[in-house]
Amino acid sequence: MSNKWINYWSKKNIWSSSKLWKKNSIILFNYSNKKFFLKNKKILDIGCGSGELIENILKISNNICGVDISNNYVSTCIKKFAQYKDIKIYLFKKNYDELFKLNKKFDIIFCNSVIQYFSNENQVINLIKSVKKVSKRGTKFLISDIMDKNDKKDYIKFFSYSILRGYFFSLIFQGVVLFFNPKYRKLENEYQLLEVDIKRIKKKIDKLCKKVVILNQPITVNVNRKHLLIEF
Ligand SMILES: C[S@@+](CC[C@H](N)C(=O)[O-])C[C@H]1O[C@@H](n2cnc3c(N)ncnc32)[C@H](O)[C@@H]1O
Repeated sequence: MSNKWINYWSKKNIWSSSKLWKKNSIILFNYSNKKFFLKNKKILDIGCGSGELIENILKISNNICGVDISNNYVSTCIKKFAQYKDIKIYLFKKNYDELFKLNKKFDIIFCNSVIQYFSNENQVINLIKSVKKVSKRGTKFLISDIMDKNDKKDYIKFFSYSILRGYFFSLIFQGVVLFFNPKYRKLENEYQLLEVDIKRIKKKIDKLCKKVVILNQPITVNVNRKHLLIEF
C-alpha cells in the first residue's frame, strides 16, 4: 500500500501550495513553540513535505533538519532553504528506519501527518525506535495527526474550529479542489489510510521511552485526530 502513497507524494499534488495546509503548520507551530520553547533548539522534521513547518520554525531557530521520502518535496525544500546554511534536507527511504545515518542528536522531533501513509502499526513502532537513535535524554518527539481506530468523527467540532480559527473558507476551497482532483480520494478508497490503535502503540513503546502521553487537543486542522508526545 505505502508505495502507492510514496508515488503520490513524489509528484506535484494538491496539498503542496494549499492555504489550509499553511494554516495547519501555523497552528502546529504555535502550539509547539509554547510547549517546547523552540528557540535555538536542534530540530528534526520527519516527513517535512514542502517545508511549511520548517518555514514557521525558521522565525526562531535555524538549526533544522528535514527528511522526506519524496524527491519532489526534498528538492523543493533544498531550493527553498538554500540560503540557510544550518538547514539540512535529506531524502530517506520509506519509514525512515535509517535516521541514525544523520549522525546527530536533536532536541525536538516532529512527524506531522505522515504515519497514516505507513502500511501497519509495526512500521510506526520501528519509526519510534529509529528516532530514539537520534535522541538524547529529554528529547521530545511529537507524532501528530494520528488516525485512531477508536476515534469518532465529530463534524460539528471540525467546522466550528475552522470558523473560530479563521480557516473556514480555506477548508471549503480545499474541499472543492479535492472534489475536482479525484486522485487523492481514489487512493484513499483503494489503499485506505492507516488507522492505528493509539493505546496499543503507547503500551508497546512505554518501556522504550521515559514518558508517553496521548494528546487529544486540536493542535492541527484535523481536530478529530490524536497525537503522541514521547519523551526519551
Ligand atoms: C500530508 S504530508 C505532511 C507533510 C508535512 N509533515 C507537513 O505537515 O506539512 C505527508 C508526508 O508524508 C510523506 N510520506 C508519505 N508516505 C510515506 C511513507 N510511506 N513513508 C514515509 N513518508 C511518507 C510524504 O512524502 C509527505 O511529505
